Amino acid sequence: MAYEKAFETADRDPQGFWMDVAKTLDWDVAPSTAHDEATDGWFPDGRMNTCANAVDRHVAAGRGSQQALIYESPITGKSSTYTFDELLKRVSRTAGMLVQAGVKTGDRVVIYMPMVPEAVFGMLACARIGAIHSVVFGGFAAPELAKRIDDCKPAAVLSASCGLEPGRTIAYKPLLDKAIELSSHKPDVAIILQREELHADLVANRDIDWQAAYDAASPVDPVPVASTDPLYILYTSGTTGTPKGVVRDNGGHAAALSWSMKNIYGIEAGDVFWAASDIGWVVGHSYIVYGPLLAGATTILFEGKPIGTPDAGIFWNLIDKHRVKVLFTAPTAIRAIRRADPDGEFIAKASLASLTALFLAGERADPDTLLWIAEQLGKPVIDHWWQTELGWPAIATCFGLGETHIKPGSAGRAVPGYRFKVKDEAGTDAEPGKVGTLLIEQPLPPGNFRALWNNPEKFASGFVDFPGHYTTGDAGMIDEDGFIHIMGRTDDIINVAGHRLSTGQMEEVVANHPAVVECAVVGAADELKGEMAVAFVITRPGAEDLPAVKKDIVRTIREDIGPIASPRDVFFADALPKTRSGKVLRNLLRAILNGDEIVVPQTIEDPSVIEGLIDLAAPQPAEG
Ligand code: COA
Ligand code: AMP
Repeated sequence: MAYEKAFETADRDPQGFWMDVAKTLDWDVAPSTAHDEATDGWFPDGRMNTCANAVDRHVAAGRGSQQALIYESPITGKSSTYTFDELLKRVSRTAGMLVQAGVKTGDRVVIYMPMVPEAVFGMLACARIGAIHSVVFGGFAAPELAKRIDDCKPAAVLSASCGLEPGRTIAYKPLLDKAIELSSHKPDVAIILQREELHADLVANRDIDWQAAYDAASPVDPVPVASTDPLYILYTSGTTGTPKGVVRDNGGHAAALSWSMKNIYGIEAGDVFWAASDIGWVVGHSYIVYGPLLAGATTILFEGKPIGTPDAGIFWNLIDKHRVKVLFTAPTAIRAIRRADPDGEFIAKASLASLTALFLAGERADPDTLLWIAEQLGKPVIDHWWQTELGWPAIATCFGLGETHIKPGSAGRAVPGYRFKVKDEAGTDAEPGKVGTLLIEQPLPPGNFRALWNNPEKFASGFVDFPGHYTTGDAGMIDEDGFIHIMGRTDDIINVAGHRLSTGQMEEVVANHPAVVECAVVGAADELKGEMAVAFVITRPGAEDLPAVKKDIVRTIREDIGPIASPRDVFFADALPKTRSGKVLRNLLRAILNGDEIVVPQTIEDPSVIEGLIDLAAPQPAEG
């Protein structure tokens, strides 16, 4: 009943509930209240430092010799560990390096780095001096990086000479140089970590060698900031080509993550927690860096892939090696492992005695994959749902509160602190079991976004459709038992291998191609990656050499957005299905691609286009 009790307390007395959580943190000025209605801020008069809570606090509590960060890089063959003592040294000196470079409290710092320990030190160092980091995922191309630089106007950029993908070295520095060339805002300084695998040329009067700057720096102490001051900006895909800069605060974030580590994941100080994601995504921010460290747990930073680095046994071998208590990954990773190791031979070879549960998120966990891995592991496998905007899980099975009952196909029940509603098309509360728009009642709990950087209008637009509620952008259903089932996005966002991408943004890129008159990009179901983008393109009369146009479109998407957005296919159509008012019927395109039942809407302008599109894009029946 611990879950019910926590849910009821958080619901009835959010002030008391979250003030109790806040007491588990170190405050320079303790807050007198949890939530302030007027400003919608959490712990508004409190002052604290997130880095001090994630690092210094554990050293002060006598856990300095405990492992804090384990770096495992099967892609380079390297691994290293850092105790809390060592982490404190590295982070406080990296903070000194930032100060030396002219970074001040409140300045923004873009971090465009691979999965190396220095990236984590950089994030924590920003937090230490009250600078606002904005990590950009390494799989994004130069124009995407430029957009983020222009929006948050960093004083400094932290980057590295290269990232490593299976079979190739990705030179980050030319991408950074290109991005700074494209952006109107020019950061004063770029601090570049030279990796052994590739040396980058430094630009005079702007670029600094990381190691030299670090060696010359002195450690600095944490700077207390207001609980409501921004800790970081993390850009995420919206429905257009302009990414949304989700702003995260300090105090609410630290409180929410601390609570989640214990009560959702069942992790305490001294435990080993591994989120196999990337620091470029919210999962990486919350559960590679801040969550585990705030909890005093050991976190694993993994530079590799679930398969091929070197094989599908890497997850299980590392769990065995480091006695990992909880693993968190995306369903795509499990699908990839299953494909490579269908009988679970690698799983059987490793000792998984330390593992208590596997958590999945980032995209829908299809029951088939979830049940397969649950059987292979013989441990609870827990789907849970959240978004960049929220910062921590909103729907889950709270394993740490003793809950293990799951329903495959559902992401679990509302996490204490959240109140969900489903509205039907008429705007009334949907009956249990009926699908509608998934909303969260305001005030949103601590840790959730309170702003989008530079974009108050866009932020407000998330709350206008249903006053008093945040529109999640997902369709969902709450069943009789309170389990919430996620049906997918209601907008033009897709999830490719757990990566959130905007088809609207891809359309902007494709439409810019000189041979293209009109296009639509939709997400098609994909056995491995969950979804993949597919473009339908109408070319200008006289456009020849369509294979070359197709190649060019794919190349442009990779160069403008990034390789993670590579479309699975590009189809050249004669016409797109539209309503009489000219809106492209994307659901119809999706149904055609997925081989689903085709429901022709009354509003369609010309039903005859459907036949041609089926011939073009419907899945072919398997031979034999
Ligand atoms: N820097 C540069 N390029 C990157 C990159 C990065 N950080 N991450 C991915 N890419 C590139 C890849 O090299 C690949 O390029 P290619 O098309 O030239 O081969 C492309 O982007 C697509 O990458 P990815 O989606 O990782 O696909 P993949 O085919 O290389 O690997 C999986 C397939 C299933 C192994 C991989 O998608 C995976 O590990 N998924 C788990 C998802 C996950 O952890 N999500 C995090 C959210 S919780
Ligand atoms: P991101 O902001 O990148 O974390 O992506 C958030 C979106 O991913 C959500 O709005 C959902 O559409 C999807 N998502 C995340 N977790 C799940 C899940 N467990 N089940 C279904 N969809 C999910």
